[in-house]
Amino acid sequence: MRLLKSYELRELYLDFFRKKGHAVIPSASLIPENDPTVLFTTAGMHPLVPYLMGEKHPAGVRLVDCQKCVRTGDIDEVGDASHCTFFEMLGNWSLGDYFKKESIAFSWEFLTSPEYLDIPKDKLYFTCFRGDENAPQDTFSHDRWVEMGVDPSHIFYLDKKHNWWGPAGTTGPCGPDTEIFYDTGKPKCCPDCDPSCSCGKYLEIWNNVFMEYNKDAEGHFTPLAQQNVDTGMGLDRTIATLQGVESVYDTDAFAGIIARISELSGKNYKDSADTIKAFRIVADHIRCAAFMLGDPRGVTPSNVDQGYILRRLIRRALRFAMQLDMPEGSLAKVAEAVVAQYGKFYSELADNAARIYEELDREELRFQKTLKNGMREFERIKGGFTDGKIDGASAFRLYDTFGFPIEFTEEMARENGLTVDVKGFEEAFENHQKKSQAGAEQRFKGGLADTSEQTAKLHTATHLLQAGLRKVLEDDTISQRGSNITAERLRFDFSFGRKVTPEELKEVEAFVNAAIAAAAPIVCEEMTPDEARAQGAIGLFGDKYGERVKVYTMGTFSKEICGGPHAGNTGDLGVFKIKKEEASSAGVRRIKAVLE
Ligand code: ALA
Repeated sequence: MRLLKSYELRELYLDFFRKKGHAVIPSASLIPENDPTVLFTTAGMHPLVPYLMGEKHPAGVRLVDCQKCVRTGDIDEVGDASHCTFFEMLGNWSLGDYFKKESIAFSWEFLTSPEYLDIPKDKLYFTCFRGDENAPQDTFSHDRWVEMGVDPSHIFYLDKKHNWWGPAGTTGPCGPDTEIFYDTGKPKCCPDCDPSCSCGKYLEIWNNVFMEYNKDAEGHFTPLAQQNVDTGMGLDRTIATLQGVESVYDTDAFAGIIARISELSGKNYKDSADTIKAFRIVADHIRCAAFMLGDPRGVTPSNVDQGYILRRLIRRALRFAMQLDMPEGSLAKVAEAVVAQYGKFYSELADNAARIYEELDREELRFQKTLKNGMREFERIKGGFTDGKIDGASAFRLYDTFGFPIEFTEEMARENGLTVDVKGFEEAFENHQKKSQAGAEQRFKGGLADTSEQTAKLHTATHLLQAGLRKVLEDDTISQRGSNITAERLRFDFSFGRKVTPEELKEVEAFVNAAIAAAAPIVCEEMTPDEARAQGAIGLFGDKYGERVKVYTMGTFSKEICGGPHAGNTGDLGVFKIKKEEASSAGVRRIKAVLE
């Protein structure tokens, strides 16, 4: 077997499939372009859904790439040996071209041929779909592996839970898969131990999905117009498996990042269970944050949507950096090691390096101010809960005054054998928002410290601006890429491929001022994301605080999902004026505007 470095596996994979007639396509953005149901790209196939459904891909019917992905469901698990928020997924696709026969032959050749991974054949195990009421048993894949030379005792039929794959949402292209496992050589944990077991004997390295069904909203499976192949190989995990190391953090991909944390903290990664956990959290979270900040559709820390996840990552990294006694400004220095490791393949990281460091420094500074006081507050109150549960009001205070994301408080609570009344937190949060709406305070979008009525008005103006842009530019795909509001001005980043002309800007301004002149009342309603969608509301549908979202309606001018708060009536805003329009990053424009 060849001992490869992480970048070598990436190159070999792309090269192998290039030789098999696949076009190498660049990684898509981490922010899904046409899918408001998830905040981040979660798999290599995600940006390709339209093409799996039958749309023509400009690069052809055979594609290969290395896609940046983020999965944030398990942020609090990061620190153990297996979880990461950011990962790279190698994948090859057939869009209605080859199917199971060639896909399995390609995988076999790549894994076992001496020119590529050269894995001993007896180290490989396989699973295939057992069949159920929706789709038959996948005997074809089973038999094809046998044709390749696999001993049938190395192949297992498993159920839908294991051998079926669909996209992150509940609807869309899906199908049976065949998964490939590497036997670490550990003894079986029990007589029944097989690749479905999580004891760590068998590690999954590749998943070949045969997408030939579409699952609709009613749960029906219908054949797609074409039979596709979608495969996924996690780069870090495969390297860790092949290198025989304990975790992805022990691979060459993380070596430079871990070394930098060691330099800054003066500690060794493996000093103790605590240092191992803290090193991994800082390494993972800053790697992920750097990719989010450096993405062409860059994310900025905020209290909503992608920006909220980014903020959570940075703040959690900072807590553990402080535990390691890393000096102020360390997060950006760790990010330098990320850029050094990845900037060559992902040129956007190198191009946006300055932005990455600046934003990390800024968020660090912002949170440093309150973090120590917040921790002190936590220590002070933690003994005072007779039922072992931190009440909603206290959790909200930690959020509102000290900037602790709720998940952060929950984690600290767990470390201290406590729980948090999350429902109570949500109620406190909502009450606070209602008060804010009345004009007493403002929190969202303007930043935690910004509490003026003027920012609420500018926030309302931002909604009208987006509606105006969509109307004047006749482009309903325009969407928010970032928003930053101070008491003086708004700044709005949106997806659009070219400069907006001065004439168009004048028209947009006129649209907003007409909405202001109409003195339309601003109505906030709560509903499910589906209802919001059905009403034509725009905005991101991903929701952190439960099943319901808030929709703000401004007369006939704008309907948008948002946390608020807003002015009570468009007539309160004053005169809207655009001050500047410029490029923000590739495919993203930025407008600065004021209310006079
Ligand atoms: N889409 C498949 C996965 O993510 C390949 O595992």
